[in-house]
Amino acid sequence: MVTAAGPLDPSSVDLSMDFAGLSLPHPVMVASGCFAYGEPYARFFDLRALAGIATKGISPAPRAGNPVPRIWETAAGMLNSIGLENVGAEVFLREKLPFLADLGVSVWVNFFGEDFDAYVACARALDRGKDRIDVLEMNVSCPNIQKGGIEFGMVPEVAHDLVRACVAVTDIPIVVKLSPNAQDNVAIADAVRSAGAVGVSLINTVTGMAIDVRTRRPRLATTYGGLSGPAIKPIALRIVHQVHRALPDLPICGMGGIRTGEDALEFVLAGARCIQIGTANFAEPTVALRVLDELRRLCAELGIARLADVVGDVRPWPAEPAWKEARV
Ligand code: SIN
Repeated sequence: MVTAAGPLDPSSVDLSMDFAGLSLPHPVMVASGCFAYGEPYARFFDLRALAGIATKGISPAPRAGNPVPRIWETAAGMLNSIGLENVGAEVFLREKLPFLADLGVSVWVNFFGEDFDAYVACARALDRGKDRIDVLEMNVSCPNIQKGGIEFGMVPEVAHDLVRACVAVTDIPIVVKLSPNAQDNVAIADAVRSAGAVGVSLINTVTGMAIDVRTRRPRLATTYGGLSGPAIKPIALRIVHQVHRALPDLPICGMGGIRTGEDALEFVLAGARCIQIGTANFAEPTVALRVLDELRRLCAELGIARLADVVGDVRPWPAEPAWKEARV
């Protein structure tokens, strides 16, 4: 819809967003697991153009991750089973965080643990970086590890208790990254909100599989992995929309298959206050710059002077059937 005022000058469009008190110059971030700890991408573009960077998931101790093969490209995305390989909290704070903090962009440190106590220990350890970390993005949605990860994000009461325990040991705001594999995403989002999370990241990968018919082996050494990329965008949009509609005051960071400015605007209309680009970084390391430019131009074309004004502004059809609610 173009407003009565008609198309605007792109430079006049206000893309700024408030996310739980965090002022972002625009909504375009990069997603955990798809941008390392930032530094390798600095040779492709000036990372200060980003609104923020979500790091690879950090655990209390370093992890080597899963055996290979652990990546498989699919028709419209990617299956991964990295197994949360990372340098661990100590090395992250000492060797990786200073680079990120010096950029001046919003730093979201994704973290997890293999059990309840390890989550809490990790939140406590990362709190030592509180002057340089804007958000702890708590990962209760990784489908690729045997202990921890998704098992903490499937049942509202379990997620609630874990988030509450982590919130108690850090001053850094916690945003919880949720799984599309959960049965009731609204119930989980509500549970983590009531436990003190300031927002949610929606969505992590969808569990999937691919098979090599010649060897008859799964394409991934762990058999199953997480599907990301354009294939999951409709699922992500549906969940962002459902959670925003049920909990309109809960800030949502949207992700899942974003690779154009139009994709980003869809997520904002569904209810996201910021977005993260993930899988697309592997094929196009500068994709975030293009998405940002396209988003600005698209807003200008559609007469959207202030992006924040259209968060959640997707319009229902006049006769939306009630059964849609019951079925998803
Ligand atoms: C992985 O490292 O296996 C992927 C991370 C995630 O799905 O959260």
